[in-house]
Amino acid sequence: MSLREKLLARLLAAADFVSGAELSGALGVSRCAVWKHIEALRDEGYEIAGSPRRGYRLLKVPDALYPPLFSPLVRGKFGRPYHFYPVVSSTNDIAKELARQGAPEGALVVAEEQTGGRGRLGRGWHSPPGGLWFSLVLRPPVSPAATQSLPVLLSLAVTDGVAAFPLPPVEVKWPNDIVCQGKKVGGILVELGAEAEAVHFVVAGIGLNVNITSFPAPLEKTATSLQKIAGEALSRPQLLSAILAAAERYYSRWCREGFAPFREDYERRLCLLGREVEICCGGNIARGAVAGVDAEGRLVLVSPDGTKRRFVGGEVTFKQKPRPSKRPDEDKAEA
Ligand code: BTN
Repeated sequence: MSLREKLLARLLAAADFVSGAELSGALGVSRCAVWKHIEALRDEGYEIAGSPRRGYRLLKVPDALYPPLFSPLVRGKFGRPYHFYPVVSSTNDIAKELARQGAPEGALVVAEEQTGGRGRLGRGWHSPPGGLWFSLVLRPPVSPAATQSLPVLLSLAVTDGVAAFPLPPVEVKWPNDIVCQGKKVGGILVELGAEAEAVHFVVAGIGLNVNITSFPAPLEKTATSLQKIAGEALSRPQLLSAILAAAERYYSRWCREGFAPFREDYERRLCLLGREVEICCGGNIARGAVAGVDAEGRLVLVSPDGTKRRFVGGEVTFKQKPRPSKRPDEDKAEA
């Protein structure tokens, strides 16, 4: 890490002012050198408050994802190496190619715009400039079947990252839609490079409608952006850095312990709990009330006759308005 990167990392990690003396001690340079680097950062667009008695406090980072601006915000191994493109077809395609060529776990591909963004179930993904479109290379030491809960897990990391901003509560809609005020603000597309028994790599593609001000007519009803909800633009570098840090923390525990430790947390953020839904899975449609998720991240649905069924994937639609804080009876027979 360069001195500038170390300085930024310190400022980012601090919730309040950091004194010039503390920074100069931690970085092993004079207070005058610290001040010069602070000035250089301000020239690059960082807003840093300075107080003779209290030191420096990072207020805002520029909303640009270029490597010199973003790399200093990478706190762990997720985000290294960092590949940024102004325009690509799909960051997932680039990340898959890099993974095939041996890219390490944590390698990250980010694009300002995607011309061929892909969503789940073969759909397209609207990816104009202003959003966060990125793909992470992972190499989990698990069987292909065990990766089923990975997208569900990553949706927790995304909601954590968003929760660092002053926004209304952000929820998840199983398996991995990110929802706010009843509309979709993001989604996750996980793709596997695997054989029957072994996972070579996973590419986790995450799309978040951050600073997008309008959507094409068909999307307007179902999608929104964080900027529209907040009433102002959000810092994408800060958001991406927060999501990567949360994703790395969750992922390392998931590699050791699976999805079970995250089940309750996921259910707390699930906007489907207790609701009557319809799930379309492989051409079949099932109806029932959502009882939650199981230890593998599968959706558990209770049919009107009390039978419980579990689903690994599919498209969920609501059949009725929420029933206030009522969960379906969990003691009924299992399918
Ligand atoms: C969905 O909800 O359908 C998943 C959407 C995933 C979109 C992201 S954007 C970055 C990455 N590149 C893609 O082409 N898709 C994913």
